[in-house]
Amino acid sequence: MRIVASGRMDRSFSSPLPLDSGLPPAVLLRRAHGFKLDMCHALERIADNLPDNIDRVECLRIANILAPSIRQIHVCEENDIFTAYAAALAVSADADMETLRRLKAEHVEDQCFADEVTETLLGIGHGRAIDNAEAVGFMLRGFFETMRRHVAFERAHILPVLDR
Ligand SMILES: [Fe+2]
Repeated sequence: MRIVASGRMDRSFSSPLPLDSGLPPAVLLRRAHGFKLDMCHALERIADNLPDNIDRVECLRIANILAPSIRQIHVCEENDIFTAYAAALAVSADADMETLRRLKAEHVEDQCFADEVTETLLGIGHGRAIDNAEAVGFMLRGFFETMRRHVAFERAHILPVLDR
Protein backbone atom coordinates (compact mmCIF):
# COMPACT_ATOMS: atom_id res chain seq x y z
CA MET A 1 0.00 0.00 0.00
CA ARG A 2 1.26 3.49 -0.72
CA ILE A 3 0.17 7.04 -0.22
CA VAL A 4 -0.06 8.77 -3.58
CA ALA A 5 0.70 12.44 -4.08
CA SER A 6 -2.92 13.37 -3.46
CA GLY A 7 -2.69 11.82 0.00
CA ARG A 8 -5.11 8.94 -0.65
CA MET A 9 -4.06 5.34 -0.19
CA ASP A 10 -3.41 3.18 -3.22
CA ARG A 11 -3.38 -0.55 -2.54
CA SER A 12 -2.30 -1.44 -6.08
CA PHE A 13 1.17 -0.06 -5.54
CA SER A 14 3.98 -2.53 -5.88
CA SER A 15 7.26 -1.29 -4.55
CA PRO A 16 9.88 -0.32 -7.10
CA LEU A 17 12.47 -1.61 -4.65
CA PRO A 18 11.84 -4.79 -2.74
CA LEU A 19 12.93 -3.94 0.77
CA ASP A 20 11.71 -7.18 2.30
CA SER A 21 12.42 -7.60 5.93
CA GLY A 22 14.58 -10.61 6.47
CA LEU A 23 17.28 -9.54 4.07
CA PRO A 24 20.60 -8.57 5.64
CA PRO A 25 20.62 -4.87 6.58
CA ALA A 26 23.62 -4.15 4.35
CA VAL A 27 21.72 -5.59 1.36
CA LEU A 28 18.67 -3.49 2.22
CA LEU A 29 20.76 -0.35 2.49
CA ARG A 30 22.55 -0.98 -0.80
CA ARG A 31 19.19 -1.49 -2.52
CA ALA A 32 17.83 1.67 -0.95
CA HIS A 33 20.88 3.63 -2.06
CA GLY A 34 20.69 2.20 -5.57
CA PHE A 35 17.11 3.33 -5.87
CA LYS A 36 17.83 6.78 -4.44
CA LEU A 37 20.75 7.29 -6.81
CA ASP A 38 18.58 6.22 -9.75
CA MET A 39 16.08 8.86 -8.65
CA CYS A 40 18.85 11.44 -8.42
CA HIS A 41 20.02 10.59 -11.92
CA ALA A 42 16.49 10.87 -13.32
CA LEU A 43 15.99 14.24 -11.59
CA GLU A 44 19.33 15.49 -12.87
CA ARG A 45 18.31 14.58 -16.41
CA ILE A 46 15.08 16.54 -15.98
CA ALA A 47 17.00 19.52 -14.60
CA ASP A 48 19.50 19.38 -17.45
CA ASN A 49 16.69 19.45 -20.01
CA LEU A 50 14.91 22.49 -18.61
CA PRO A 51 13.09 24.33 -19.97
CA ASP A 52 12.59 23.23 -23.56
CA ASN A 53 13.36 19.52 -23.71
CA ILE A 54 11.28 18.30 -20.83
CA ASP A 55 9.87 14.78 -21.00
CA ARG A 56 6.50 15.34 -19.33
CA VAL A 57 5.75 11.61 -19.10
CA GLU A 58 9.03 11.11 -17.25
CA CYS A 59 8.08 13.94 -14.88
CA LEU A 60 4.82 12.15 -14.09
CA ARG A 61 6.60 8.83 -13.65
CA ILE A 62 9.01 10.29 -11.13
CA ALA A 63 6.26 12.29 -9.43
CA ASN A 64 4.27 9.11 -8.87
CA ILE A 65 7.03 7.08 -7.24
CA LEU A 66 9.36 9.60 -5.60
CA ALA A 67 7.67 10.54 -2.32
CA PRO A 68 6.16 7.12 -1.45
CA SER A 69 9.42 5.36 -2.27
CA ILE A 70 11.50 7.75 -0.21
CA ARG A 71 9.05 7.30 2.65
CA GLN A 72 9.30 3.52 2.37
CA ILE A 73 13.08 3.64 2.32
CA HIS A 74 13.23 5.85 5.39
CA VAL A 75 10.91 3.54 7.34
CA CYS A 76 13.09 0.59 6.37
CA GLU A 77 16.29 2.41 7.28
CA GLU A 78 15.03 3.56 10.63
CA ASN A 79 13.29 0.31 11.62
CA ASP A 80 15.75 -2.25 10.32
CA ILE A 81 19.03 -0.73 9.24
CA PHE A 82 19.70 1.82 11.95
CA THR A 83 18.68 -0.70 14.58
CA ALA A 84 21.20 -3.17 13.19
CA TYR A 85 23.84 -0.43 13.04
CA ALA A 86 23.26 0.52 16.67
CA ALA A 87 23.33 -3.12 17.72
CA ALA A 88 26.56 -3.72 15.79
CA LEU A 89 28.21 -0.87 17.60
CA ALA A 90 26.55 -1.68 20.90
CA VAL A 91 26.00 2.02 20.88
CA SER A 92 26.49 3.90 24.06
CA ALA A 93 28.66 6.76 22.84
CA ASP A 94 26.81 10.02 22.28
CA ALA A 95 28.62 10.55 18.99
CA ASP A 96 27.09 7.40 17.50
CA MET A 97 23.58 8.26 18.65
CA GLU A 98 24.12 11.75 17.29
CA THR A 99 24.88 10.27 13.87
CA LEU A 100 21.55 8.43 13.87
CA ARG A 101 19.68 11.50 15.12
CA ARG A 102 21.22 13.54 12.32
CA LEU A 103 20.36 10.98 9.65
CA LYS A 104 16.77 10.77 10.89
CA ALA A 105 16.48 14.55 10.81
CA GLU A 106 17.75 14.51 7.24
CA HIS A 107 15.10 11.92 6.39
CA VAL A 108 12.39 14.30 7.56
CA GLU A 109 13.89 17.14 5.52
CA ASP A 110 14.26 14.93 2.44
CA GLN A 111 10.66 13.75 2.74
CA CYS A 112 9.36 17.32 2.87
CA PHE A 113 11.59 18.23 -0.06
CA ALA A 114 10.38 15.15 -2.00
CA ASP A 115 6.78 16.32 -1.53
CA GLU A 116 7.67 19.75 -2.98
CA VAL A 117 9.50 18.18 -5.92
CA THR A 118 6.52 15.91 -6.52
CA GLU A 119 4.14 18.87 -6.70
CA THR A 120 6.39 20.61 -9.21
CA LEU A 121 6.86 17.52 -11.37
CA LEU A 122 3.12 16.83 -11.34
CA GLY A 123 2.50 20.35 -12.57
CA ILE A 124 5.06 20.06 -15.35
CA GLY A 125 3.84 16.58 -16.25
CA HIS A 126 0.29 17.86 -16.60
CA GLY A 127 1.40 20.57 -18.99
CA ARG A 128 1.83 23.57 -16.73
CA ALA A 129 4.11 26.18 -18.26
CA ILE A 130 7.56 26.44 -16.71
CA ASP A 131 7.65 30.13 -15.86
CA ASN A 132 10.93 30.08 -13.99
CA ALA A 133 13.15 27.28 -15.23
CA GLU A 134 16.04 28.53 -13.13
CA ALA A 135 14.05 28.18 -9.92
CA VAL A 136 12.80 24.71 -10.89
CA GLY A 137 16.33 23.62 -11.73
CA PHE A 138 17.63 25.06 -8.48
CA MET A 139 15.01 23.11 -6.53
CA LEU A 140 15.67 19.82 -8.34
CA ARG A 141 19.45 20.17 -7.94
CA GLY A 142 19.08 21.09 -4.30
CA PHE A 143 17.07 17.94 -3.73
CA PHE A 144 19.23 15.41 -5.54
CA GLU A 145 22.50 16.90 -4.35
CA THR A 146 21.29 16.71 -0.74
CA MET A 147 20.14 13.13 -1.28
CA ARG A 148 23.49 12.15 -2.84
CA ARG A 149 25.35 13.61 0.14
CA HIS A 150 23.11 11.64 2.51
CA VAL A 151 23.75 8.41 0.58
CA ALA A 152 27.49 9.09 0.51
CA PHE A 153 27.52 9.61 4.27
CA GLU A 154 25.61 6.39 4.94
CA ARG A 155 27.94 4.51 2.59
CA ALA A 156 30.97 5.84 4.43
CA HIS A 157 29.71 5.48 7.99
CA ILE A 158 26.83 2.97 8.18
CA LEU A 159 27.68 0.33 5.58
CA PRO A 160 31.18 -0.50 6.91
CA VAL A 161 29.69 -1.25 10.31
CA LEU A 162 26.96 -3.44 8.79
CA ASP A 163 29.56 -5.26 6.68
CA ARG A 164 31.70 -6.22 9.67
FE1 LIG B 1 19.07 7.50 5.10
